[in-house]
Amino acid sequence: MAKVHFTADTHFGHASIIRMAGRPFTSVEEHDQALIDNWNAVVAPADTVFVVGDFAHKADNDRARKIFERLRGTKHLVIGNHDSEFVRTGLPWASVMDRVKITVDGQKIVLDHYPMRSWEGVRSGAIQLYGHVHNRIDVWPNSCDVGVDCWGYRPVTLLDIRARLDAAPHHLMEEYVLDDGEVPAEGEDVEVVNGVKL
Ligand SMILES: [Fe+2]
Repeated sequence: MAKVHFTADTHFGHASIIRMAGRPFTSVEEHDQALIDNWNAVVAPADTVFVVGDFAHKADNDRARKIFERLRGTKHLVIGNHDSEFVRTGLPWASVMDRVKITVDGQKIVLDHYPMRSWEGVRSGAIQLYGHVHNRIDVWPNSCDVGVDCWGYRPVTLLDIRARLDAAPHHLMEEYVLDDGEVPAEGEDVEVVNGVKL
């Protein structure tokens, strides 16, 4: 059965990301080859992959296209700050969006390159998957960095993500949800973030 995978911040072609993110490679060629091999080791041709931003940076267009063509699966881009006009419009993505709302195995998911404090469906169990921060902020029980720096430089599935969300400290959520017993009136869309009612 075809799977859905998530990844972000591959930064193909970006030599400086090796030092900036502490990636264990000695050249950008080695970096790109390893990420391509890792991707194709877990993604089957019939699978779907959502790239949650920063697919490539400083790669020339031809290099970016050749890398794209080597990566398996139907690929969707959620735009990151480093995705050039060519990456956004010159590669044959199945879709290119600023933000994506999808349901996978009954799980509502909001995809955005940037980590969010609140999002559509947060109180009914929707989770948010992001990139951008390169493993520099905590995983919450309902939101998670899917960037390659967090996941051994490869895409991940919801199964992998759920295990990490389940292990996240749930005290982070204490001020995030409504107090016990406080029930919003029907049709009222009330959210409380760090004690502030929105
Ligand atoms: Fe990035």
